[in-house]
Amino acid sequence: MTIKAGVIGWPVAHSLSPVLHGYWLKQYGIDGSYEKIAAPPEKFAEEIARLRADGYAGVNVTVPHKEAAFELANSKGQGARATGAANLLVFMKDGRIVAENTDGVGLVDSLEQEPGGLGGKLLGGRNVVVLGAGGAARGIVEALCGRSVAKITVLNRHAERAAQLVERASPNRTNVKFEAGALTDWEGAANEAWLVINTTSAGMKGNPPLDLDLSILPKDATVCDIVYNPLETPLLRDAKTRRLHAIDGLGMLMHQAAPSFQAFFYPHLVLPPTPKVTRELRERLEKELKSRG
Ligand code: ATR
Repeated sequence: MTIKAGVIGWPVAHSLSPVLHGYWLKQYGIDGSYEKIAAPPEKFAEEIARLRADGYAGVNVTVPHKEAAFELANSKGQGARATGAANLLVFMKDGRIVAENTDGVGLVDSLEQEPGGLGGKLLGGRNVVVLGAGGAARGIVEALCGRSVAKITVLNRHAERAAQLVERASPNRTNVKFEAGALTDWEGAANEAWLVINTTSAGMKGNPPLDLDLSILPKDATVCDIVYNPLETPLLRDAKTRRLHAIDGLGMLMHQAAPSFQAFFYPHLVLPPTPKVTRELRERLEKELKSRG
């Protein structure tokens, strides 16, 4: 029987998830379907009930439903609890809905595993500077803590949000040092940073980029942007010009999808295989992004 899954959002037309899951379904010869499901906020809960009744294995959740998805679930994974938001809902046979947020782990996996990435260097690394303090930043900080990063500095336009994020993330994390500040504290943080992750929407198509002086970063620093529209953000272009290592947002997009694929399409396996993030998959996504202009 065909296993059904999809992505729910409002709007949802822009989602690249069907390309990702469609690629893996074909690659592994799985009898499954993955569709876009458009639902306005007031219809979200109703639509989830319909999908469950229709026998769906689960759904990915995108804007603006991630918080509602979290609230609706009966059980919540670590990434979901850290962010208060879910990008994955799995409908269990016993009727429970399990929520998870795989964005943070997806980013960290992409940093470690992408060709030309950081490999195991994340472990015990120097200072990681996270720009932004929204939901994406919360998930990423949680995932970085899970990989024993030595120090995390969160900088945000509104410094108090960065402080709140650190306050929430730091209890029971005696092995990680935290700092919080405003974007204007960049200089102090940058000269000892070996990895910078932009989680803000600055630099996204139509938004002016952050005004940061990358010249003060150590020569071996890596700059990562989770934005993939455009794929080469002004921040990444600047990093490349300075011969710094640059990692774009497609890696996170591909890797965050893997746990969803495992949960939807291998329901009978306790330890499902991890779908492979390949060069071909990246090319497929790049082509799709290009065709959208
Ligand atoms: P998400 O869940 O995707 O992280 P969010 O919670 O709306 O989205 O957070 C967006 C982040 O981008 C915030 O850190 C925001 O900074 P503030 O908390 O100070 O608002 C940041 N951001 C958005 N536009 C920005 C800009 N033009 N300059 C600097 N930071 C910006």
